[in-house]
Amino acid sequence: MIRIAILGSTGSIGRNTLDVIRRFPDKFQVIGLSANSNIKLLYRQIKEFHPAFVAVNDARLGRKLKSGLKSKTQVFIGEDGLEELIQHKLIDKIVLAISGSAALKPLLKAIETRKVIALANKEALVMAGPIIIKKAEAKKVKIIPVDSEQSAIWQCLDSQDSSKLRNIYLTASGGTLRKFSQKKLKSVLRHEVLRHPCWRMGEKISVDSATLMNKGLEVLEAMFLFNIAAQKIKIVIHPQAIIHSMVEFIDGVILAQLSITDMRIPIQYAIAYPQRLKNAFPSVDFFQLKRFDFEKPDERKFPCLGLAYRAADEIGTMPSVLNAANEASVEAFLKNRLKFMAIPQVIEKVMDRHRKIKHPGLEEILAADYWARNEAAKIIQSLRN
Ligand SMILES: NC(=O)c1ccc[n+]([C@@H]2O[C@H](COP(=O)([O-])OP(=O)(O)OC[C@H]3O[C@@H](n4cnc5c(N)ncnc54)[C@H](OP(=O)(O)O)[C@@H]3O)[C@@H](O)[C@H]2O)c1
Repeated sequence: MIRIAILGSTGSIGRNTLDVIRRFPDKFQVIGLSANSNIKLLYRQIKEFHPAFVAVNDARLGRKLKSGLKSKTQVFIGEDGLEELIQHKLIDKIVLAISGSAALKPLLKAIETRKVIALANKEALVMAGPIIIKKAEAKKVKIIPVDSEQSAIWQCLDSQDSSKLRNIYLTASGGTLRKFSQKKLKSVLRHEVLRHPCWRMGEKISVDSATLMNKGLEVLEAMFLFNIAAQKIKIVIHPQAIIHSMVEFIDGVILAQLSITDMRIPIQYAIAYPQRLKNAFPSVDFFQLKRFDFEKPDERKFPCLGLAYRAADEIGTMPSVLNAANEASVEAFLKNRLKFMAIPQVIEKVMDRHRKIKHPGLEEILAADYWARNEAAKIIQSLRN
């Protein structure tokens, strides 16, 4: 029995993870769950999975859940409460499915406590990749990627070392707006952006998919996870989204990982690893698909890609600044306070204004994150005036 805690259990990845667990009651046991504020759903998850512990980030709502709960589940509150949950000896594996930069501290805590980590969150790695990887190596902690592209690369690499890599081909479906003209992109609306053709995901990552910043973040993520230069990570638009990524070795051999577009597949692999479990999901039907298409991404229409490569090249505090400016801009877009095409403009301005620290510690990374959010807020406000 693998004893699991899911941080961010009320989100898209969290709910999919619980769905996988639901299918294998003899393989997995839910020990801990966590949410930011959605205590209604968390309550339902407690009733179904009977975790020993839950953590709620919002203190008021955490107390409300605690007072209304009749089960034995212990409720922890706030950031400290989440840390307490992470440290618990009963947990073997932690699924890190909190969105955004809020996952950074829990991830570092999980590494410190030597838990196996199934990592869905990408922003934490983008912000502090070198610190996270160094700490995981020092503590001999396994980080198993959940993100479908990183899972594909990880499976193709099969523990071979990165010196054997010539290139990584990160595939992208191209997002919701691939076929939109530059003119149409200027007036694109929130609901159009949130309608992804292949994946059903949280709002933040859906916007990132539409701007292609999601792919940019994945370039940084892969660079840190697999210790490979960003120039060797190529983005290939593959609208069918069946090839989840490819690895080219130094002898020209390319391995690809294929499956239907369902996040439960990489989630299942990550939580069951090193086992491969039989499931009832459909296979890829090549005869129905008939063809695979590949295109070069259009960086003029989707400038976030270039910004991510710039951050990967500059490194230091720049990836953290890229990530924070992006989070602030996406939030403003979701609140209808910023136009879609202004997202990359804000990020670029913040990056231009940043005085980079080359080899930052955690405090400097968090300070850069804080600075970039403030700077982005000022720019967003000035665009509204
Ligand atoms: N969705 C996908 O298919 C997918 C694929 C690959 C990678 N990822 C990555 O996985 C992560 C999660 O994505 P998602 O789509 O599942 O996001 P989501 O649906 O927005 O869910 C986010 C989860 O994190 C919790 N949370 C948010 N802010 C928090 C905070 N400050 N403290 C504690 N918990 C907090 C939320 O709680 P509440 O519900 O209470 O707000 C929710 O449980 C992201 O980093 C994303 O890039 C997602």
